[in-house]
Amino acid sequence: MAAEQSLDGQSAIVTGASSGIGEATAHALAEDGANVALAARREERLESIAADLDDAHGVDTLVAPTNVRDEDAVDALVEETVDAFGGLDLLVNNVGVVAGDSVDDLTTEAYRTMMEVNVDGYFFATRAALPHLRESSGTLVFIGSFAGQYPRPFNPVYAATKWWVRGFAKSVSADAGEDDVAVTTINPAEVRSEFASETGESFEDRFDEGAVSEPAEIADAVRFAAKQDPSMVSELDLYRRDKLTFF
Ligand SMILES: NC(=O)c1ccc[n+]([C@@H]2O[C@H](COP(=O)([O-])OP(=O)(O)OC[C@H]3O[C@@H](n4cnc5c(N)ncnc54)[C@H](OP(=O)(O)O)[C@@H]3O)[C@@H](O)[C@H]2O)c1
Repeated sequence: MAAEQSLDGQSAIVTGASSGIGEATAHALAEDGANVALAARREERLESIAADLDDAHGVDTLVAPTNVRDEDAVDALVEETVDAFGGLDLLVNNVGVVAGDSVDDLTTEAYRTMMEVNVDGYFFATRAALPHLRESSGTLVFIGSFAGQYPRPFNPVYAATKWWVRGFAKSVSADAGEDDVAVTTINPAEVRSEFASETGESFEDRFDEGAVSEPAEIADAVRFAAKQDPSMVSELDLYRRDKLTFF
């Protein structure tokens, strides 16, 4: 049996596909021939990324404007993808936001934003995708975080959403593994994307090129995970080299 499967002609959904890690992941998967459904709220960006994927790789794309806080919209995303591509082989639960900082000052609105996007959004998409992934012996990738692995002194609610993601992923794996579904969690540390740090400054503005990970590096890890067969990557940490020295 092959140690890696081809992604050529496979059907993938990437949430949070309009920027950063999600956009880079859509490119990496399409480069290997996967048809990709692009989900996020900013439709114009998704249209432009879909056009780039089509030009560069000739794959089929589905532009799926979706707010992952809305379970009906997430159900529709999965159903439209299955209809368009004839099934589902890969779900990349990547969408994620950070809001506010310390618990003392965190508004209820900021708390709910993080919980509904980072937790509910992953649950809705996983619930809708699992029957299809069981059918295809597919792969479920979760983007966790260093923040979900070690205690740290800022934004405990964001960190807790990422601890939840890792716990959820492991238990989904325990449940769906016997149906031949692969479940992977990828934990980046800082990545140069539009993602905002605790100061509100985006990581692409805060860090110079070469200082921390690039979205394409995380995308390569997603692609690597998606190709493993018959084994799976259970968890993969991608940190800058001095991360454990200074965190
Ligand atoms: N950057 C880092 O340092 C870092 C480190 C560790 C883990 N992560 C994790 O990596 C993942 C991707 O982050 P990133 O760095 O690529 O950040 P990013 O560039 O800010 O991307 C976030 C994506 O989520 C989408 N999004 C936000 N709210 C949404 C909603 N309600 N419904 C649908 N889509 C929504 C955004 O698109 P729209 O605005 O168009 O909806 C965007 O495509 C997140 O889970 C994040 O927690 C990031």
